Amino acid sequence: MTSNPLAALREHMTTMLNEIASLNSLQALREAEPSITGKRSMLATLQKSLGSLEPEVRREAGAMLQEARREVETALEERRGELAASERRQALEADRLDLGDVVISAVHWPLSSGHPGLVASTQRELEDVFVGMGFEVADGPEVESDWYNFEALNMPPAHPARGMWDTFYVDLGDPETVVLRTHTSPTQIHLMEGAVANDSLPIHSVMPGRCYRRDTPDARHLATFHQIEGLVVDEGISFTDLAGVIETFTRAYFGPDIESRLRPGYFPFTEPSAEFEITCTICRGAGCRTCSHTGWIELGGCGMLDPAVLDAVGIDGQRWSGFAFGFGIDRCAQMRYQIADMRALIENDTRFLRQFT
Ligand code: FA5
Repeated sequence: MTSNPLAALREHMTTMLNEIASLNSLQALREAEPSITGKRSMLATLQKSLGSLEPEVRREAGAMLQEARREVETALEERRGELAASERRQALEADRLDLGDVVISAVHWPLSSGHPGLVASTQRELEDVFVGMGFEVADGPEVESDWYNFEALNMPPAHPARGMWDTFYVDLGDPETVVLRTHTSPTQIHLMEGAVANDSLPIHSVMPGRCYRRDTPDARHLATFHQIEGLVVDEGISFTDLAGVIETFTRAYFGPDIESRLRPGYFPFTEPSAEFEITCTICRGAGCRTCSHTGWIELGGCGMLDPAVLDAVGIDGQRWSGFAFGFGIDRCAQMRYQIADMRALIENDTRFLRQFT
């Protein structure tokens, strides 16, 4: 501090404060700090030169120098805080997962509403046809006991007909073996038991639902499929009532051009029994892979209630008689919409599904 150290300090202070304000990163601040407040800084040089001043001037210059150092150090700390905050913000920005594009493209996806699948809509159409003929719609469990799926339907253990409906058995160590139902016929038993308990005969009902079998999927079969069961228990019911219901159903659902026939068949729970078939709609009767070159497709089984079944549920067979039928819902959809291979129903190919909105 030679001629006018205070004037030099004031000048230097302005330069230093401007320099501090212009530092734009913590790294730059760390590098500049020694030259502003360090041993070789102007402040340190001035400090050292205080000793050569007159005592009067030295006191005043010392106080000013101290004040200047405080001011510079405060400016440095404030700038350090600002830069640290700004660098933290930048780091957070860089880390942020920017979902902006995703959100924007989602907004532009074409929005389409779903619709019932073909099997579900076919089930509703079949229910409508039968309700139009005076039937009620009922429901039943998909998980059954051996009694409902087999025994009450006149199939005691080891009955050979059980082989036709092999299924998934769960042995719970219980007196009753549990099975995934192989057909909707057990709902016949539930309905008849209920009607006996509530003294509410007659019965005119259809019972749609899912069934399970150990069947290998092919053009006409799935391991999980759907049936709609029909049950009539009333006085004076004969086979002509059954044939009339089936004929009326065929015309209502498939139209007048489709030919149907009842072929003698066998079911342990109906006597006599029949197979209900229609002309294959894929080949119009000429024969194709779907109908195994027969020209006919079986839609279901039917027959008059066997007296053994009426006995099993406690219905007086002298007074009441009846018939039952069980049609494949997937098979009906297949024939109505001319689907050559039933597996298309479960492949979830949207090009296939979109045709049935
Ligand atoms: C029965 O299931 C009897 N319960 C039907 C019945 C009810 C007879 C009442 C008498 C009285 P069947 O196993 O034939 O019968 O099956 C009936 C229909 O279900 C078949 O004609 C077919 O349309 C459908 N079906 C059977 N198995 C399958 C399968 N694996 N995949 C798709 N549909 C099937």
